This record gives sequence, C-alpha cells and structure tokens, in this order.
Amino acid sequence: MSVDNIFSSALQTKIKSELARYETKRSSILPILHAIQDELDWVQDSHVDTLESVYGLSRVHVKEVLTFYKAYRQEKPRKHPIQFCDNIVCCMMGAKDVMKKIEGHIKKLEAKHGENAPFEMIGVPCLGVCDQAPAMLVNKDRHHKVTVDNVDQILEKYASLK
Ligand code: FES
Repeated sequence: MSVDNIFSSALQTKIKSELARYETKRSSILPILHAIQDELDWVQDSHVDTLESVYGLSRVHVKEVLTFYKAYRQEKPRKHPIQFCDNIVCCMMGAKDVMKKIEGHIKKLEAKHGENAPFEMIGVPCLGVCDQAPAMLVNKDRHHKVTVDNVDQILEKYASLK
C-alpha cells in the first residue's frame, strides 16, 4: 500500500521534518508518533510498517517506544477518550475520587452499550496545568478543576455530541 494511503501529505511532511531535525532516526520516534496520533488518533501496525519501509525507522525501536509510553494508543479509541492526570498534585486535589466516579459511569455505559460505550479513561502523567488541578483531557479538550460535582455536567456535553 502506498504511503499516500496511510499518511496525509501534511503528516508525511511532518515526519520528514522530524527526521531531519535529529541526528539519529531513533531520536525522532517520539515526535513522529505524537504527530501520527494527533492526526489519526492511534498508532496502528500499518503505521509502524510504513515508518520502517518508507522512512527507515526500525520496527523494533518504534514498538519499544509505543509499548513503553502509555500516552501512545495502539488500539482504536472509543468516541470520547478521557485522559485523567493521576500525578501527585491532581491526586492531592481529589483526582482519585473523580476518576472513581468516571469509572462507575463508564461501567454503567458498558453494561448498556458494551464496547460501543462512548467513554473510556486512562490515567496519564502531569498535563502541565497543576495550578488548576485536577485536570483531564476529553478528546483533545482540556478541562481544569474537575470535581465529583462538575464532572457529570462535563461528560453530558460529550455524550450529547453526535
Ligand atoms: S499533576 Fe495533574 S496537571 Fe500536573
């Protein structure tokens, strides 16, 4: 399959520019995977194959990075993936309670919709907004000062999106 069927021309340009920016190809893996995930939501095996066959990035090295960092997705995300910061500041500000509430909400939706439930959640490292903790991303939208009292309202907004 042609690279044009796998990556957009903008993404191909981004990959080439990241490869040119670093002394070794291996050093460019992180930003390249971020670029792929930003555009395509997850990193599929076909993407890894293309990185090796077209751009000369070792499949083994790419897979090592993919499996080491949980921020990279290797499975198709649900409609509204939630990334909740479970780092120290957010935890001190109540993140665990909010995450527990969201998990309960997701379990109820899974009982009703199975794998088609619209939400899923993973804990992620610091989102860089510790002064507004607890923080989470829903899709690519950042939410600050998320509490057990306001989280339902936030999720309802997404649940109503088509
Ligand atoms: S610790 Fe949660 S945003 Fe920094």
